Amino acid sequence: MVEAARHIISTDEFSFVVEITADNDLVWRHWGTKIDSGPLPPQSSTQTRTTFSLDTEVPMAVVPTSGFGWFGPPGVRCHRDGRQAGQRLKVISVAITATTFDAVLCDESCGVEVIVAIAPQGACLRIATTLRNIGDAPLSVEKLAAVLPLPPHAKTIVSFSGRHNGEMVEHCEPMPAQGWYREQRAGLTGHGGPPGLFVLGEGSDWDRGDVWAAQLAWSGNHRLAVEPVGADGWAVLLGATYGPGEITLASDETLSAPDVIACYSGNGRNGAIQGFHEAIRSGRRSRELKPRPVHFNSWESVYFDHDEGRMIALVESAAALGVERFVLDDGWFRGRTTDRVGLGDWSADPVRYPRGLAPVAQRVKELGMEFGLWVEPEMVNPDSDLYRQHPDWVLGATEVAPLPLARHQLVLDMAREEVRAHLFAALSSLLRELPISYLKWDHNRALAPVSGADGCGSATAQVRATYALWDRLRAAFPQVEMEACAAGGGRIDAGFAARADRFWTSDNIDAVSRIPIQRGFLHFMPPEMMGAHVGASPSHATGRTQSLDFRAMIALPGHFGIELAPDRLGADERERLTHWVTHFKLLRDTLHNTAMWLGEGSDGLRWQAHGEARHFLLLVTRTEPSRNGRESPLKLPMVADIPHMVVRLLASSDRASRSTRTANANEEQHFPGRWLAAHGLPLPHLSGESAVLFELVASTQGRDTLI
Ligand code: GLA
Repeated sequence: MVEAARHIISTDEFSFVVEITADNDLVWRHWGTKIDSGPLPPQSSTQTRTTFSLDTEVPMAVVPTSGFGWFGPPGVRCHRDGRQAGQRLKVISVAITATTFDAVLCDESCGVEVIVAIAPQGACLRIATTLRNIGDAPLSVEKLAAVLPLPPHAKTIVSFSGRHNGEMVEHCEPMPAQGWYREQRAGLTGHGGPPGLFVLGEGSDWDRGDVWAAQLAWSGNHRLAVEPVGADGWAVLLGATYGPGEITLASDETLSAPDVIACYSGNGRNGAIQGFHEAIRSGRRSRELKPRPVHFNSWESVYFDHDEGRMIALVESAAALGVERFVLDDGWFRGRTTDRVGLGDWSADPVRYPRGLAPVAQRVKELGMEFGLWVEPEMVNPDSDLYRQHPDWVLGATEVAPLPLARHQLVLDMAREEVRAHLFAALSSLLRELPISYLKWDHNRALAPVSGADGCGSATAQVRATYALWDRLRAAFPQVEMEACAAGGGRIDAGFAARADRFWTSDNIDAVSRIPIQRGFLHFMPPEMMGAHVGASPSHATGRTQSLDFRAMIALPGHFGIELAPDRLGADERERLTHWVTHFKLLRDTLHNTAMWLGEGSDGLRWQAHGEARHFLLLVTRTEPSRNGRESPLKLPMVADIPHMVVRLLASSDRASRSTRTANANEEQHFPGRWLAAHGLPLPHLSGESAVLFELVASTQGRDTLI
């Protein structure tokens, strides 16, 4: 018997409280405000029965199962040929340190054991759940998910959906009367962004009130759900989903659910966002990223129109802008003149690169830049040597033809050892033979069908095998950075954040479209991992025209890059772009690896601030023209405790506002921080589709009255 006790697991900001009851159940007591040690009422004293309920109500377990009185969502569903499906998991051991909690739960009669491990990751708590078959016969697993408790005053679910070129659209919905869910079935993360959600308490906003947030470290099919569980509030479920027959555990075999990264803030959404950023940073394979090199990506400059001379000219024009990394995107490999051909054949096209890629890579290096290369390893075009040699290597090969194509491509079955070995060899030889310091790893279609070599569902195995290939490559080439891309932002999640150095956020680089997409991204991931490029005008995705300054200012806070044809820019635009490249280099240490706040002003104004303690950069954007003659002051809660702030307008994309008095570049304005928090920063007028950038510095000799 394990002793009945309450355990508090805390970060600096918040706590989980779990209780081992007298019956050895492990139940949730709290997710929220930090609780210091001290007496808590036992769970049983808070129970009240409703009429016709079971004699003993079953509280929400940390690993809830169904069959014995819990009617909320179960975290585990498994069986042996339909039997032993109702488990009663009892705690058989716990291991506790100052910051971690591990428990082993068991139902011996059903032959099921579950291990739960909770530990801090940055400012979040990470929950790992593992199921073990301790019976003799195979165990079929249908579900293994984390279930977390929310109190009754939770009010609003903030979640994201999306599509190619329209990623991470925010939705705010009231807590459901019956249930709320988001399910992804296409085999990878999806364009709605990371599998996660925020829940806001009554009256909370960006900087005030309770916010609970959680995301799954997983890049495949998943389900998020929120269900009412009576007077106790709500159950939030996050888990990978498994196809029929996909997971069968042999005796003693285990299944690990994707970890859940959970967070709580008493200071609004920004507290939870900052918590996620810290957790993602501390979960990265190489903790701190070096200052993000200014990126150039060839895709929208040339698409498939490659040849050595043209590419070297592009390299030279990128270098002249101050670029630090040149990435050769799709179109460089054997036969790849359109998207119908060549995927899988990872060697330089002999017609367009008769001397291989070395001359291009060398020119990149000579000009002091890093060389990066695009690949899409999981994919194959039917019109490729690889497919002609190994038609049986694709997912669905055992199904009746024809297989559904997407962008003229099929998906390799990554769970096959020989497929991974082939890809490792192909990628390793590229990485050995060329001075490549960066791989952009794409994945441009959904999985359909998902059956592997044995005809069984393989979507989960596909994700795990892809992780394994990334891990093997990263171990073999630790100096090579890698970007996760999937038709734009289709694979952005904490599973890849542990392995990747950058995400491609969206193929839509229209600056107006990018504002909400990037804000969605920044809810879960830190800005230094957000690929953000200055694209052409008119935008290739939308056809809209925007000023170069506006486009550059929207890209600035992320991992800044350029994706256009420099030779099509006028002299003035080239000069402005060089100016922004220089600015990014000066500002990147303040923009990245620091705290970040999102907020909204009045009348459609949106802002974000980046910085630490005494030095901030503030970007204010407007997409629609203001309805008012002038802008309302912008409240900045994060500087409330700083006695004196000096504010300088660094840049404005708005030609009209450049002539206003407040917009004189570098002119200093002094304010008490409390004034900026309570009354707000006076803003210059912003036209539709414009941005202004301020620097805010805590002053030691500031004045305490307003000028
Ligand atoms: C995807 C990516 C783009 C580009 C193309 C190349 O759409 O998101 O950035 O790499 O593939 O085919």
